[in-house]
Amino acid sequence: MQQNERINFGSKLGAILAAAGSAVGLGNVWRFPYETGNHGGAAFILIYLGCIFLFGLPIMISEFVIGRRSKASTGKAYQVLAPRTPWKWVGYMGVLTGFLILGYYAVVAGWTLEYVVQAAMGNFFGKEAADFIAMFSDFSQDPLRPLLWLFVFVLTTHFVIVKGVKEGIERSSKVMMPILFVLVLLLAVCSVMLPGAGEGVEFLLKPDFSKVTSDVFLGAMGQAFFSMSLGMGCLSTYASYFGKDTRLGATAMSVGVIDTLIAILAGLIIFPAAFSVGIQPDAGPSLIFITLPNVFQQAFGGWPVLAYICAVAFYVLLAMAALTSTISLHEVPTAFLHEQFGFTRGKAARIVTVGVLGVGIVSSLALGDWSGYTVCGKNFFDALDFLTAKIMLPLGGMFGAVFVGWKLDRRLLHDEVTNCGRLRAPYYPLFVLILRYLCPVGIALIFINELGGF
Ligand code: TRP
Repeated sequence: MQQNERINFGSKLGAILAAAGSAVGLGNVWRFPYETGNHGGAAFILIYLGCIFLFGLPIMISEFVIGRRSKASTGKAYQVLAPRTPWKWVGYMGVLTGFLILGYYAVVAGWTLEYVVQAAMGNFFGKEAADFIAMFSDFSQDPLRPLLWLFVFVLTTHFVIVKGVKEGIERSSKVMMPILFVLVLLLAVCSVMLPGAGEGVEFLLKPDFSKVTSDVFLGAMGQAFFSMSLGMGCLSTYASYFGKDTRLGATAMSVGVIDTLIAILAGLIIFPAAFSVGIQPDAGPSLIFITLPNVFQQAFGGWPVLAYICAVAFYVLLAMAALTSTISLHEVPTAFLHEQFGFTRGKAARIVTVGVLGVGIVSSLALGDWSGYTVCGKNFFDALDFLTAKIMLPLGGMFGAVFVGWKLDRRLLHDEVTNCGRLRAPYYPLFVLILRYLCPVGIALIFINELGGF
């Protein structure tokens, strides 16, 4: 593909918002709280923050470098930057990872649509915690409804992808991100003020290091990669659409801050509310779908109209945040098929969509009728989440760091980080050091630790 054929994001802000749109999604509002709950709270969050700084930000910048420099999607980028080397397999693994993540992510994204409808029909009124638990389990075990929403969600993603980069991705991110942020902030304030919420705040802020096991490290690392959309070339594919003036370091920092803030705020919504109504923080993937409706009921109990508006707005925004993430996941395999095999974008997108629906159907049924089928003791949905988030993403990130730190030409790297010398980048020496040593060694240690090596 010729360089001048590539469409770019319209502005630097557009680049930040598109990357933030990819990063902010169900990972922040759905996965972060349930992983935090499963891993004991505050200590997990501290380790998570450490992973963001030590692995997340440097790897994000290195993905930006790979993408903008190669002007190709991740599947092709390594072939452009290191022709005829096995590095291309890192790109291929990224494409596969993105495809698999989309397969189960789209299932949960579909759930958000069910909750938009439930909220809009006023079905949260007069219900209590136990009713919301029953509501979720009825829904997720229904053989058809979750599949219907899965189809709706994947097809919507498909249409945005076919419409193209600038129109679809940039414009939707621009409108949605600020509104989501305000609403999340508002709900966090409401949740913290619920009766008995203090225990939840403490759970989030007071670390108990006696609960830290090897799983906590692996979980925190996986969550950092998942939440920041790292380790599979998603952001590097977006960066291939960045303009030459986009500041890579500053963009990574903005995306990291926005993503982390929204995750912490989501925690501040979920846990105070969960403790307030007596729901266990380790309820797993269903956590936000059973705690959140309570927040709307209890916090705005006296003002039903407000409760109604907030509930509908929240699920609509969550669905949109999920959509900007599914678009970024879909883009990776689609761009790969387009660039590698010369399919039109439309055909490439159709192939990906059909495959994703297949994985999605199996993931969805794994939470209901097919929950008896397990892989290593996990149902298919959980197994897929474990394999991608806790193994494939950190591995991909580790290879990416090694590639940029050791293999990529130093001058080229410096040019990318400083926009050919036009920017000052005082963090550059530290950045290279972290990429070369800390990322590969740190990630490897967490894997070895998990395997019982220490
Ligand atoms: N980061 C997104 C979220 O938090 C999900 C996502 C989009 C993702 N693209 C990704 C996760 C690439 C891993 C890799 O919801």
